[in-house]
Amino acid sequence: MSMFKDTANLANFTIRIANELQGIQHLRAGWEIWKKDNTFEKYHTMAMKERNESPWGNDGKYLTWVLVRRDDMDGQIYAGCETYLRKGFVKHKDSNKVEDTFIYTIASVVTPKPYLRNGYATRLLSLLHHQLSNLPPPPYSFGSLPEVSATTIPKAIGSMLWSDVGSTFYSKCTSSSDRPGWVVEKPLVTELIWKILPPQSTKLDDGWEWLYLDDLPSIGAKLSNAAKLDLSKRDTSQKTLFQHDPASEGTLSFIPTKGMWQRPLIEDPEPVGLRFIPSDSQEQETIIIFSMRMINIGDRLLITYIHNLSPPQLPTVLKAMDILGHKAGQTEGWIWGLSASRPNLVKTWQGLEDRQVKTGQRQEIDGHLLGVAWYGPLEENGELIDGQMWTWA
Ligand SMILES: CC(C)(COP(=O)(O)OP(=O)(O)OC[C@H]1O[C@@H](n2cnc3c(N)ncnc32)[C@H](O)[C@@H]1OP(=O)(O)O)[C@@H](O)C(=O)NCCC(=O)NCCS
Repeated sequence: MSMFKDTANLANFTIRIANELQGIQHLRAGWEIWKKDNTFEKYHTMAMKERNESPWGNDGKYLTWVLVRRDDMDGQIYAGCETYLRKGFVKHKDSNKVEDTFIYTIASVVTPKPYLRNGYATRLLSLLHHQLSNLPPPPYSFGSLPEVSATTIPKAIGSMLWSDVGSTFYSKCTSSSDRPGWVVEKPLVTELIWKILPPQSTKLDDGWEWLYLDDLPSIGAKLSNAAKLDLSKRDTSQKTLFQHDPASEGTLSFIPTKGMWQRPLIEDPEPVGLRFIPSDSQEQETIIIFSMRMINIGDRLLITYIHNLSPPQLPTVLKAMDILGHKAGQTEGWIWGLSASRPNLVKTWQGLEDRQVKTGQRQEIDGHLLGVAWYGPLEENGELIDGQMWTWA
């Protein structure tokens, strides 16, 4: 075992929000892994745009955290990650009220190459839990942690991340001996892949219309009401349930927007959603949000959110996806987290033979496995209830 693996050594390291130079060190380490076709300059510009201009990142919602030596707080980083602050809803065990809450999404966990496999990422993430939550004080071995302001870093009910390195590593990044780190639950990591076909028409069926980025704030408000109502009806006699709020600033537009930053538009403006307004105003609208290409998730057409899609409407939606998907050069579409929540819809999809549907669990490596950490009381056993793609980061 190398000398770096012993915990006495790790006690010399602590967490902080990156200063400017440390932020650049983190970006550079991430660029080595996720650059795709981007130069470092373009990668850096996109990160700054997210931080300063995007609705999901501005006002300090998007932060870089790094692991540093206690005796060199402004110096070299040994591991880093990013957090996005998002709004959520929680219905506590035995309560009948849905309350507002916060959830952090963690992204871009990376250790600079020379420092790999010394326990640095594990250390960073174990400490991070305590900065983001009101968990009981950290174990003695963590030492004192830098104070973070609860105004700029509100305490969250939980956090999540989408793992590309399998389902075990992040579960071992624990906040204390009695809580696991980010746990992957099978029902939340399912996938459905279907075939995009040459379009039969260039027009949408009657009653359907495209949605654009500008529409998403008002669509988010509608979805937020619906999500809250749905949660209020759920049974929480056994455990607390929580989920993201679709009205959380910019979260619905995160994937479609970042996709468009990286490539030419498929159409100008490019649709990011589809809506059906029923003639009977008592009925709820059907809403689908998508991205034609967002390469960091994978080179497929991505449906990130569906609301109120009934099985008989599916062929119409898939025909609409053919129109844009074909233009974007996509041959397959991808949707996550439906099998447990919408079994009938999945069954209908599987029954469309020409779509050659494949369903199952997403793969361990590069499968973006959703892991969740609960920060509320242990006995409430909090569970995140939505595994759709829209909250990916
Ligand atoms: C994943 C990563 C951040 C871990 O950083 P680290 O500081 O080396 O991690 P630690 O030393 O704390 O823990 C090492 C453990 O990470 C896990 N791990 C690291 N790379 C892994 C990989 N590619 N696949 C699966 N597990 C991996 C292993 O469990 C390993 O334990 P082991 O050495 O006993 O096998 C680092 O490998 C990295 O930067 N990878 C490239 C970027 C990346 O893929 N990030 C994850 C995005 S979700």
